[in-house]
Amino acid sequence: MNKNITVLSGDGIGPEIVAEAIKVMDRVCEKYGHTFHYTYVDIGGCSIDKYGVPITEEGMAKCKASDSVLLGAVGGPKWDSCPPNIRPEKALLAVRKELGLFANLRPTKLFPQLADSSPLKKEIVGGGIDLLIVRELTGGVYFGPKKTEEVNGELVATDIMPYSEHEIERIGRVAFETAMKRGKRLASVDKANVLDTSRLWRKTMHRLAEEYPEVTCTDILVDNTAMQLIKNPTQFDVLVTENMFGDILSDEASMLTGSIGMMPSASLSEGTLGMYEPIHGSAPDIAGMNIANPLGTILSAAMMLRYSFDMAAEADAIENAVNLVLDAGYRTGDIMQEGCTKVTCSDMGDLVTERI
Ligand code: IPM
Ligand code: MG
Repeated sequence: MNKNITVLSGDGIGPEIVAEAIKVMDRVCEKYGHTFHYTYVDIGGCSIDKYGVPITEEGMAKCKASDSVLLGAVGGPKWDSCPPNIRPEKALLAVRKELGLFANLRPTKLFPQLADSSPLKKEIVGGGIDLLIVRELTGGVYFGPKKTEEVNGELVATDIMPYSEHEIERIGRVAFETAMKRGKRLASVDKANVLDTSRLWRKTMHRLAEEYPEVTCTDILVDNTAMQLIKNPTQFDVLVTENMFGDILSDEASMLTGSIGMMPSASLSEGTLGMYEPIHGSAPDIAGMNIANPLGTILSAAMMLRYSFDMAAEADAIENAVNLVLDAGYRTGDIMQEGCTKVTCSDMGDLVTERI
């Protein structure tokens, strides 16, 4: 198969980790007879420096015209003082919106080889953690009207969190369908004791639940979810939630596995176009040092093959190779354990590539 991939390496460690994922994808192409064409587009701080905007219109058009998008990370202290409209993160939100990427899948899987890296006790995570957060990605407070104005001599800031039924229903459907393919257990996370958006969320999820009688769907409040993720994380299979709750809970969930560096994600639209990125940030403190963990990005590439290109065997091959590398005791600094071999970012890419 021929595929066009737009590559948004971004800032900080972005270019280093993306290079390793591309190394791995090239090996997949060689082995399975595919051809991937890569188009590089600047995003985030590097684009602000070059063009004065976090992504150009041309760049956005390239993303839209491709079969899929691979993203590294955006942002860094250098651009923290940029005005809200040209902050690096703005480009990320714009791509999500323009490409219609409303469904964000964030799997949290504890690789048994890394059980010691989890900050939680063995008796809590020992049973293995394998949960999936389905986060609504193009609605809610992230995209609602916002303003900062002077009222009675002081500044007042407002962010509005709107959700319409169709937005809730389409993310709900993705969650129920995903639950059907997994353990058939769905936790719908909301704050229905306080928020109107959450009451509509709950009502819509209940309506959908009737269409999926095989899925056990439970409502859970977001504050309780935050607690349960630490207290008893193995109770969860699929969680579905609105944009900001999902942002917060997915960072929390990633730590169950010891390192956010291992976590991939997929942002999906109604069609096959998707964007794939590790959930961690640009880690400016270690940028350019060739010590970052590229596995989250490599596993994101695997998700791209699985979800956008329907290449299940190829995706399995990447995930398998990552497992073998961990089995063989190779670790980047963030997941380093006694008795293991510490490797660089590019070594890690090579080690995975060799095992495909
Ligand atoms: C994420 C990030 C982004 C978000 C930021 C960089 C805008 O934290 O993908 O989780 O909040 O969605
Ligand atoms: Mg986040």
